[in-house]
Amino acid sequence: MTIRAVVRGVGHYLPSRVVPNAEFEALVDTSDDWIRARTGIERRHFAAEGETTSDMAARAAEAALADAGIAADSIDAILLATSTPDLTFPAAATMVQRKIGASRAFAFDVQAVCAGFVFALANADALILSGQARRILVIGAETFSRILDFTDRGTCVLFGDGAGALVLEAAEGTGTPADRGILATDLNTDGTHQDLLYVDGGVSTTGTSGQLRMQGNQVFRHAVEKLAATGHAALDRAQLTSADVDWIVPHQANLRIIAATAQRMQVPMEKVVVTVQDHGNTSAASIPLALSVGKARGQIHEGDLLVTEAIGGGLSWGAVVLRW
Ligand code: ACO
Repeated sequence: MTIRAVVRGVGHYLPSRVVPNAEFEALVDTSDDWIRARTGIERRHFAAEGETTSDMAARAAEAALADAGIAADSIDAILLATSTPDLTFPAAATMVQRKIGASRAFAFDVQAVCAGFVFALANADALILSGQARRILVIGAETFSRILDFTDRGTCVLFGDGAGALVLEAAEGTGTPADRGILATDLNTDGTHQDLLYVDGGVSTTGTSGQLRMQGNQVFRHAVEKLAATGHAALDRAQLTSADVDWIVPHQANLRIIAATAQRMQVPMEKVVVTVQDHGNTSAASIPLALSVGKARGQIHEGDLLVTEAIGGGLSWGAVVLRW
């Protein structure tokens, strides 16, 4: 018998404040045209004053539980991918546990920046396969607006806030790629590239939360090459090929990265879920947001073969192949 981690529900939450590109024209030397042409981003959401990562994560989790028809107190574990937690500790996941009433669940955060949701999904899969948990909430939630330098046009126009969540449940499979659930994962890190993308503050250095710094064009170069490679590696591990893919659900950082990766993976853009125009780069929240929006749009259906892939600070990158 093969155990699979199967998706039972998905949901998301976006803060109500929508920030169009034009708002940045008053802050830095940029234009709506430049942002659209170079990134594909048209707008993003920013959290309200006082609205935290765990608030948004809890709303997304409740939406995913409702979609699954599963009660919060039957959840065994909560994994929250975030680099922008409410506090240095405890983990924002513990706050979600309290807010949604998931009283039986153990809860912890996963920090792999924009690759965080892929890392959390792979770890949730391992918890289910090892028998440690049967029902897991996997959440991605970020308030990147709080770590942006609004004088740096190379970064402040790129990011947004939001949250998305999946409910995973253990189910019996046949051990073939026809099974529903997570079929393969591929995780990678190269810590020698820290200087390309980091936050210039932290507990044991400055004692402040710091601001995001990025050499965008260098990250771009790594992204296109590494995302296609990890997507192929995960497909190989699942004994599948690009021809089997119904949807790529990529990290939503830049439309040019998304398109170049799809081309390298030989998957047409008609099979790529794109939300970057509406959300910007929401880091670890971007993939679960895209999964939830993709399902709501009627793109993703039960039985579809999905590849998710992401890269972020570290650099860390990875992919998950799953049948919805
Ligand atoms: N408006 C106008 N001009 C700008 C802006 C802006 N908002 N930002 C940069 N420019 C300028 C630069 O100053 C530069 O000007 P110069 O030639 O006079 O020096 C010019 O545009 C070209 O800059 P590049 O950085 O080479 O532009 P590029 O085409 O690479 O686009 C971008 C920049 C959008 C940041 C792109 O490199 C990118 O998307 N990189 C990847 C980011 C990413 O994927 N991050 C993922 C991980 S995020 C995470 O983990 C938190």
